[in-house]
Amino acid sequence: MLSGKQILLIVAGGIAAYKTLDLARRLRERGACVRCVLTEAGARFVTPLSMAALTGEKVHQDLFSLTDEIEMGHIRLAREADLILVAPATADLMARMGAGMANDLATAVLLATRQPILLAPSMNTAMWEHPATQANVKLLKERGCRSVGPQAGDLACGESGAGRLADVQDILAAIETHFSSGPLSGLRALVTSGPTHEPIDPVRYIANRSSGKQGHAIAKALADAGAEVTLVSGPVSLADPSGLRTLHVETAEQMLAACLGALPADIAICAAAVADWKVKAPAKDKMKKAKGAAPPALELATNPDILAILSTLKKNRPRLVIGFAAETQKVSAFAQEKLKAKGADWILANDVSEGTGTFGGDSNQVHLITHGGVESWPRMSKAEIGAELAGRIAQALKPKASKGKKA
Ligand SMILES: Cc1cc2nc3c(=O)[nH]c(=O)nc-3n(C[C@H](O)[C@H](O)[C@H](O)COP(=O)(O)O)c2cc1C
Repeated sequence: MLSGKQILLIVAGGIAAYKTLDLARRLRERGACVRCVLTEAGARFVTPLSMAALTGEKVHQDLFSLTDEIEMGHIRLAREADLILVAPATADLMARMGAGMANDLATAVLLATRQPILLAPSMNTAMWEHPATQANVKLLKERGCRSVGPQAGDLACGESGAGRLADVQDILAAIETHFSSGPLSGLRALVTSGPTHEPIDPVRYIANRSSGKQGHAIAKALADAGAEVTLVSGPVSLADPSGLRTLHVETAEQMLAACLGALPADIAICAAAVADWKVKAPAKDKMKKAKGAAPPALELATNPDILAILSTLKKNRPRLVIGFAAETQKVSAFAQEKLKAKGADWILANDVSEGTGTFGGDSNQVHLITHGGVESWPRMSKAEIGAELAGRIAQALKPKASKGKKA
């Protein structure tokens, strides 16, 4: 699966660095060629000798090594990799990447490269949850880095929480997905997910009950099928799916800006429950309840219609634009109207009335509305719906490649 792939493994100074010895071995078993850059701190945790023995390659450590710069300079290391994997990605290394520093071999390579970067962060929970680390991770993802993990669990420091290096198997799966020759490989997809929050004042907002489970499941299914996926997520309590890029937004306006910024894409799936209305002029300070005073009147304004905007773009319109219709009555009929009104190609309609468990649940029942008619799918898990949809998209966009394949 990874045969002939050139992977540059950057090992930074985290306690989980020892796991990268096994990772390097597993990558080679799968046919990859692994070159390793050890940071100065990384070399405190694993020896260059072990890494060289396991990769069968010289290990690179020094930005100013004369022999290295002649034989295999940092620019060559940066260019020749098909994928750069940073594992463990320490808080420190990600901070330096975010700041655009190039003060050692690892950061010089990471700044000089145009190749894809996969981060596998690992650190103590407090370090991971620190706003500085979270801001750096967000920034790096916005710049296109992908990430896998960290996982929650027992940490080497004796604490328990988020920050453990993703399992070697999960890192391998993320790499294989990256190089996947699945039915959607070579295609770019944009998926929106979750609700939007429209501020009333700094502490209150208008929201809805969307959990993001369906949108996230679709994004993951498309990535598993080989697509390069950007997930634009409203506020949800779900972890970012591995193997794809997640952008976090709050409002409909921000979601639209993130979607337009993620184009061009071959596929756009608008699964987010975007608020139709926002408060026209949100209060700058918290609105106070005055004794005896009438409740404030909220003047609403219409939010941008992201599905309609993407469907009718003059430039960069995705080849396939798919919307969701969340209805509580006449589900198929309303969805058929929506398909025409928005200019979308397909609509997935689902019933979100009370008792269906659609919002927040793990299963869903959808109707696929196309210009050819309505097809009702049986109740399935949200992950199964994602996989089924990925298969349909492959049939529509890559008919030859997906011939005979079921989702
Ligand atoms: C015993 C020990 C364990 C450490 N483990 C981690 C870790 O798991 N994650 C992390 O981000 N930093 C960890 N650090 C701190 C980093 O080693 C330190 O920030 C270092 O400057 C990272 O350099 P690098 O990013 O160039 O590899 C650890 C330090 C020590 C002494």
